[in-house]
Amino acid sequence: MIWKHAVVLSTILAVSSSTILPFPPGFKFGAATAAYQVEGGWNLDGKSENIWDRFVHEHPERIDDRSTGDVACDSYHNWRRDLEMAEELRLDFYRFSLSWSRILPSGFPNHINEAAIEYYNNVIDGILEKGIEPLVTIHHFDLPQSLQDLGGWANPLIVDWFEDYAKVVFAHFGDRVKLWLTINEPVILCEAFFNAEVFPPAFISPDLGVYLCSKHVMLAHAKAWRVYDKLLKPKYHGRVSLTTHITWFEPLAPEYEELAELTMLNFGGRYSHAIYSKIGGWPPALEKALAEVSLKRGYSRPQLPPFTQEEIELVRGTYDFFALNHYTSRLMRTAKEGEKFTEWPLGDVEDLNGIIVRKADWAQAATSWFYVNPEGIRKGLVWLKQQYGDLEFMITENGLATKAGLDDQDRVQYYRDYLEQVLLAINEDDVNVTAYTAWTLMDNYEWNNGYTVKFGLYEVNFTDPGRKRTPRASAHYYANIIRTHSLEIPTTSIQL
Ligand SMILES: *[C@@H]1O[C@H](CO)[C@@H](O)[C@H](O)[C@H]1NC(C)=O
Ligand SMILES: *[C@@H]1O[C@H](CO)[C@@H](O)[C@H](O)[C@H]1NC(C)=O
Repeated sequence: MIWKHAVVLSTILAVSSSTILPFPPGFKFGAATAAYQVEGGWNLDGKSENIWDRFVHEHPERIDDRSTGDVACDSYHNWRRDLEMAEELRLDFYRFSLSWSRILPSGFPNHINEAAIEYYNNVIDGILEKGIEPLVTIHHFDLPQSLQDLGGWANPLIVDWFEDYAKVVFAHFGDRVKLWLTINEPVILCEAFFNAEVFPPAFISPDLGVYLCSKHVMLAHAKAWRVYDKLLKPKYHGRVSLTTHITWFEPLAPEYEELAELTMLNFGGRYSHAIYSKIGGWPPALEKALAEVSLKRGYSRPQLPPFTQEEIELVRGTYDFFALNHYTSRLMRTAKEGEKFTEWPLGDVEDLNGIIVRKADWAQAATSWFYVNPEGIRKGLVWLKQQYGDLEFMITENGLATKAGLDDQDRVQYYRDYLEQVLLAINEDDVNVTAYTAWTLMDNYEWNNGYTVKFGLYEVNFTDPGRKRTPRASAHYYANIIRTHSLEIPTTSIQL
């Protein structure tokens, strides 16, 4: 029957009508986790309390499901299974973070916890045995409580404390770990931590705490980078950078273009200009705008503390590649008389007299801050290249927040759409992107969302004592991208 044949034919056409886009040779794929979100073992084998331990125990009401990371994925015991998953996906690298309060229970190197060194040695050796590269984040939001009690990231001495901690981890793991990230997402570290009640220490200090943190983070990173550069790089040839969170901001209308640019400088530039620009220091336009705000408020000094010339030199050039995390986009417009913007963790935008809004056709993901806009990752990469030149870019986090369920077609589509934009940045805009990291390997403790929001390629059963992990559709999809080293984009089927 002719009619029947026609149906078969059009099915074949529909299946075959897709474009295969290869990734450049040498492009690497990874997946990431962070210590507090997966490890558990919060008080085991000498680990001391960190700011998240304290916060979730004292303020369960600030967490959506009143849960804690006390056990989380129990990766402290299940790390072998985690590495099996990395192998199943055929990852080139696995990004994970070290717990400062596990390694240095006092926060300082007067006592190094051997059990912690052994745990991370096992993980690192296990990764290498599978032919996978470890990418290690030294600090990912989980400051020892002892250091928070001394002011945490608002205390200038933290620059030295972090350097001391970095020296310890370089000395113990630097022979095998060749890729390092000093500090994860300073913009969240500073904004969410000093400007929002849902992140510890919930010490609200939008005028000063946030800005002190911004400066100290940059200096701490720089000191750690220089330790590595001087003492380890000649022998181990590894590479170190900071990981910057880049949300893409664009103007709601052409008249807000300058404001959108200033917002990019505030959230991305504040944590990268000092490192990657030729002149160093804060982005000049941002520093000027914020200094004017400080004067208007009656402060005698800028709230964003200026760098000395010596500090500018200390920070400038302390990178081996540009690491960025990206998830979402926003639109900017100027605030109306008396209008205030308070959405965390971006409340600081008040200082720019800006209001952040969402484009109606950006779908909302399963958590409040997250709108899906695949073009944002390409535009963000192009903006970074325009700002800082033809650097090597590694995407160190990208992924989608969803509800529970194994057939996560929304996450599959997110990865496809965002990776397509990454390929456009590479092929059309000549941005040198060399790596991509899925956030995250498995469901984990999503900070103030607790276990209500899922980001994992693998589902984790948090009521199962063994925290069983099961691959989602997106895990199969991501494994296939890695295996074929290419992305298959369906095109509209041609009707004959
Ligand atoms: C991208 O950066 C890497 C690392 O610096 C370099 O080896 C490679 O040649 C660069 N690729 C392009 C296309 O510039
Ligand atoms: C999770 O684990 C618990 C305990 O083992 C089990 O009863 C439950 O069925 C599991 N849930 C799923 C969705 O597999």
